Amino acid sequence: MAVDRDAFTRAGALLRQAMDSWSPVAVLTGAGISAESGVPTFRGPDGLWCGFRPEELATPAAFARHPERVWEWYHWRRRLVLAAMPNAGHRALAALEAVAGDAFTLVTQNVDGLHRLAGSRRLVELHGTLLEARCTRCGRVEPLPPEATGIPRCPACGAMARPNVVWFGESLPADAWARAQRAAETASVFLVIGTSAVVYPAAGLIEIAAASGARVIEVNPEETPLSGLADCVLRERAGVALPALLREAGILDA
Ligand code: OAD
Repeated sequence: MAVDRDAFTRAGALLRQAMDSWSPVAVLTGAGISAESGVPTFRGPDGLWCGFRPEELATPAAFARHPERVWEWYHWRRRLVLAAMPNAGHRALAALEAVAGDAFTLVTQNVDGLHRLAGSRRLVELHGTLLEARCTRCGRVEPLPPEATGIPRCPACGAMARPNVVWFGESLPADAWARAQRAAETASVFLVIGTSAVVYPAAGLIEIAAASGARVIEVNPEETPLSGLADCVLRERAGVALPALLREAGILDA
């Protein structure tokens, strides 16, 4: 794939401009940013688990019918994530936050905790985290020990716990969505990284940002249904594109 140098130059200039004027910068990430850490994406070739698609496991109906199977999938993914390290893409976003400060929001659809591990703090985890369990009766949230197996029980009331994530067909946590929406509405630059942009309402943030006047930069080796909204498209892996973009913007040393 030929690298479009001109797109990097234009994207770098947009980011530099936003930094110089302390204008808000927002970022939306998806599973693609963690691909280079060895975490499989949902819709990529490694997205199947024991022949099941995520849409057959990450739903309230799947959990009601086969809680042990759904938990087994989450335990597998959690073990995978616990063995993974943030990559150059995660670290570049933490570096961007360190420079942009209060004018920065990172919204992620990922439940793997790798942004936090990389040092990101102005973070909205839209789909929750697979490192915690939530009681199906009293709602108590507990961290999951690394060695957890089977169906965890609530330490307070003894009821069955579920992964503390958002499933297909469920609403996003209202406070997380409000923060994400505000970030999209006010951003002068909106970076979209490693998402197939097909799962709503998260993908709608790209449309909100573009309609509110943000300049949109997409980082993804593949085209997405919302690529047309982007002012600059960087067809490159996040771990390569993000450090290069930050160098272009003068945020990281060349
Ligand atoms: P997907 O698996 O749908 O899409 C991953 C995207 O990352 C694709 O567009 C790839 O082209 C891109 N990609 C792959 N490797 C990359 C790399 N190294 N750098 C940059 N991009 C890369 O994942 P999401 O869009 O995150 O929801 O999926 C959205 C939601 O659907 C998830 O949060 C999850 C899922 O089912 C729930 O569980 C509610």
